[in-house]
Amino acid sequence: MLILGIETSCDETAAAVVKNGKEILSNIVASSADLHAKTGGVVPENAAREQVKSIIPVISQALSQAKIKPKDLDSIAVTIGPGLIGSLLVGVETAKTLSHLWNKPIIPVNHLVGHLYANWLMPEIRDRRLEISKKQELKTPEFPAVGVVVSGGHTDIVLMKDHGELEYLGATRDDAAGEAFDKIARLLDIPYPGGPHLAQIADKYRKQNPNAKLDMFPRPMIDSNDFDMSFSGLKTAVLNKLKNQHLSLEDKALLAAEAQEAIVEVLVSKLMSVVNKYRPDSLILAGGVAANQRLRECLADTAFDNRLRSIHIPPPLLCTDNAAYIAAAANYNYRTINWQKVVSHPGLKITD
Ligand code: KG4
Ligand code: ZN
Repeated sequence: MLILGIETSCDETAAAVVKNGKEILSNIVASSADLHAKTGGVVPENAAREQVKSIIPVISQALSQAKIKPKDLDSIAVTIGPGLIGSLLVGVETAKTLSHLWNKPIIPVNHLVGHLYANWLMPEIRDRRLEISKKQELKTPEFPAVGVVVSGGHTDIVLMKDHGELEYLGATRDDAAGEAFDKIARLLDIPYPGGPHLAQIADKYRKQNPNAKLDMFPRPMIDSNDFDMSFSGLKTAVLNKLKNQHLSLEDKALLAAEAQEAIVEVLVSKLMSVVNKYRPDSLILAGGVAANQRLRECLADTAFDNRLRSIHIPPPLLCTDNAAYIAAAANYNYRTINWQKVVSHPGLKITD
């Protein structure tokens, strides 16, 4: 089965060709992040304009790099939401046009569910951590699985009983984990995109200060009796530290490390509570924040300590937005619909 995936939910324009839900033949991502760096964040109107410019070249490149002609494709998978309406429309309307033109069925994909399927893809690049547990990581996740999507707009935990059988377990009540990274980065004058830059500064600080305790900030809802989280208070805690103070670069690095540690500790602790309650066969991490090295290390260590049977974390490049996981999700949830019925859903929930 050869599927062309198309993903345009935010500021990345992406297209990929994936074989049988796991083999990546091409995976092209054009990001407009440089443009958004000038405004300190994504301006939806600007993101949509960039999507229009990039969509056709990106799809052409995905097909040519995969050495695939449109007639060879079995279907087209496209992200229908959640995301920015202007950005989503570009991918959805392009997919519909190609579906009609090439006479190929179309499969609508939920972006959040798509993220989880990065764990079914054969990694192109392996990071050192995954190399350690190579055998385990090359196995596809087994059900029942606990899945967590930690991205810029969402922090959702679900129980995956099977493909297409997702049960909601918990989510952030306010800011997403990625949003917390980005907003705190902005407070610390760390350039957009904040998350990865803040993580770099935090990791450097930890390396230079291996014995630092890093427990300055609260761990909101860490002991609540549910699987919900809250990250917006952390931003206020950082803001309070900044008030009327001139901070040195070293002070800022400490705050970055403290903030990262608080976010990671809450996420790991919540996931371990879910694991202890549901005893799943796999734990699946996904979404842009899953690229965070500290989170990957802490989760892997804690999960192995808790004798979890298998933990799956995609290589960093497959964590952030791309179309390969959209094609993979479509492969395992193969429900085609008439192109005329495909519509964008900016507010789609993970279990919709
Ligand atoms: O999944 P994603 O690429 O897009 C959304 O669907 O939102 O996630 C983007 C989010 C951003 O908030 C970004 O700052 C964060 O993921 N992110 C990171 C790292 N890489 C990306 N956060 C912390 N550490 C990273 N290394
Ligand atoms: Zn995403």
